[in-house]
Amino acid sequence: MAPEIQLSSAAVAEFSTALLAVAMDENPGAATLDDLDRALGGELRRSIAAREFRGARDELLQFTGTATGARRVMLVGMGKPGDRAGGLRRAAAVAARQAGKLGSGDLAFHGGVLGEREVESVTTGLLAGAWEYKDLKSPPPEEERRAPLGRVTILAADNPENRAAMDAGQAIGAGHSLARTLAMMPGNLCTPQFLADTAKQLADRHGFKLTVLGRAEMTAEGMGSFLSVAQGTPQDPKLIALEYSGGKRGEKPITLVGKGLCFDSGGISIKPAQSMEDMKFDMCGAAGVLGAFDAIGRMKIPVNVVGLIGATTNMPSGTAVNPGDVVKSHLGKYIEVINTDAEGRLVLADVLSYARRFDPAVVIDAATLTGACVIALGHTATGVFGLDDALIGEVIAAGKRAGEPGWSMPLWDDYRDLIKSEVADIKNSGGRPAGAITAAMFLKEFTESYPWVHLDIAGTAYSDADLGAIPKGPTGIPTGTFIEFVRGRVT
Ligand code: BES
Ligand code: MN
Ligand code: ZN
Repeated sequence: MAPEIQLSSAAVAEFSTALLAVAMDENPGAATLDDLDRALGGELRRSIAAREFRGARDELLQFTGTATGARRVMLVGMGKPGDRAGGLRRAAAVAARQAGKLGSGDLAFHGGVLGEREVESVTTGLLAGAWEYKDLKSPPPEEERRAPLGRVTILAADNPENRAAMDAGQAIGAGHSLARTLAMMPGNLCTPQFLADTAKQLADRHGFKLTVLGRAEMTAEGMGSFLSVAQGTPQDPKLIALEYSGGKRGEKPITLVGKGLCFDSGGISIKPAQSMEDMKFDMCGAAGVLGAFDAIGRMKIPVNVVGLIGATTNMPSGTAVNPGDVVKSHLGKYIEVINTDAEGRLVLADVLSYARRFDPAVVIDAATLTGACVIALGHTATGVFGLDDALIGEVIAAGKRAGEPGWSMPLWDDYRDLIKSEVADIKNSGGRPAGAITAAMFLKEFTESYPWVHLDIAGTAYSDADLGAIPKGPTGIPTGTFIEFVRGRVT
């Protein structure tokens, strides 16, 4: 359960709580927080002066508080001052995570004077830090149980503006949490059918229009590319379309597309066993679309948005597609399947072609598309690919506001030669050189008649190490980028 979040205008030295988190920049001045310092008998000033706490990013220092105010105090470092909203979001996540580990039950967060943008960021950060996926773990024995984080108070002016900012932060946090839960769920539970069911729940809750195509409908549509990936699995593949009409009638929709491979074994071009279990995360693009739609529905953003998800699994079997096979895509182009493990682009080709019927203002797709993108940018930045520099800038700026950095990659015609086929119009793999770019070049062939940006989130959607603010596992990316892009288009 997500903690309840509230605002309080109370003075930091007087607020009664089990745990008070105080976020501080690098090398905080000893003069700050005089009242709190006095309440703590000078301990705050002393520990800073002694450099027991230096305010480095994610640094924590805890000490005993007072009987009537904060029973325990925790300083949280934010590192070098810069992006204040981003620094506060991260500090709030670290604080909420720590509160969960300590079992303090409730938490108060102080980050200096907070405006609306900061209140929103702190709220999303708190929810990110409090997120856990415990559905498949038996509860520990009674004596080992700790109080869950039930309530968090943000120490900031309790006024209508800050309350609205907190509501927005809660909507965004809920969207991120949904995306992370879907991503964390194993492939035997988070199936294409489950993604469709989740879309149905969101549609019912927020009044979205929902269309779901299965194998039969996709066959009728001529989606030979998508279906070639799904032909090795008995599970029914799903093309999920959500439509949110918050904007003016007739206004072209922003269209968000997500790769939804609920498990990617590689197919006949099977992957090595090492880390294959991580391929349950191959639906993080789809999770981002659903998370963003939950947030957009909660916030009632006044724009029109379409969400499209291509969901299936990629399995080897006697009916699976073979290397060398040629399939006909929804757009009509023939594709030579060189490597059945380059399946995401085969699914997205038909989904991007299907997107034309919504007459999109812009299409942004997000996909855990290539290992090559992880090699190029590591786990730090999402690869951003497109042809329209202004649009690329708009997407990167949205990601930056959300704390989800992206970096522009080239998409030049020179790379097209690498995916030329001897037998068909195009082949689905260009081998190792520029692997993230050739994948994007492949997608480009299916994005006729609308502006488009592709996000390769293979390195950023989940982490195989603890990131401090976020544990090992799904990060929620690209949910925030999608939400911020949509918000940025409100006129
Ligand atoms: N889902 C993978 C990409 C991936 C790899 C995501 C590692 C996250 C971490 C994708 O379907 C894939 O297998 N891509 C191949 C493409 C190649 C066969 C051209 C890859 O990256 O190796
Ligand atoms: Mn693959
Ligand atoms: Zn994949």
